[in-house]
Amino acid sequence: MVCLGNICRSPMAEGIMRYKIEKLHLDASTNSCGTANYHVGDSPDIRGQQTLFKHGIDISHHRSRQFSIRDFDHFDMIFAMDENNYQDILFLARDQSDEQKVQLIMDMVYPGENIPVPDPYYGSLINFEETYQLLDLACEKIATKLCK
Ligand code: 4NP
Repeated sequence: MVCLGNICRSPMAEGIMRYKIEKLHLDASTNSCGTANYHVGDSPDIRGQQTLFKHGIDISHHRSRQFSIRDFDHFDMIFAMDENNYQDILFLARDQSDEQKVQLIMDMVYPGENIPVPDPYYGSLINFEETYQLLDLACEKIATKLCK
């Protein structure tokens, strides 16, 4: 799960995905990072923590890290939150195999429609709840795919 700062959207995506993996006993793991390094080592935005806590998910332990080329080796699927994240990751891809791992996360729900998960950083709690709702839909689809 990749966004820009790894303090709002992608740690929420990681928390939601991990919750579904555990609930369904899936043989999978998840992680998250940001394309930028501004917030490396920081906790998730408190508004994201509060929103997920309301839905029974605790992401307080997470610390922000930056995307690394090694992530292409460690993960089979790389989900970008928006087009900028998507292009920034693709720029680092070494070959077609790396490129094929990358997709916009909302493509799982609305294939080919290029729908982003909007950045809630400059918004309010309502925007974080909207982020949760989008990511929950997408992670449900990912979980279904992993079940097959
Ligand atoms: P995120 O949100 O990419 O969803 O973690 C942001 C967090 C911080 C900043 C931008 C987006 N920032 O500019 O500091």
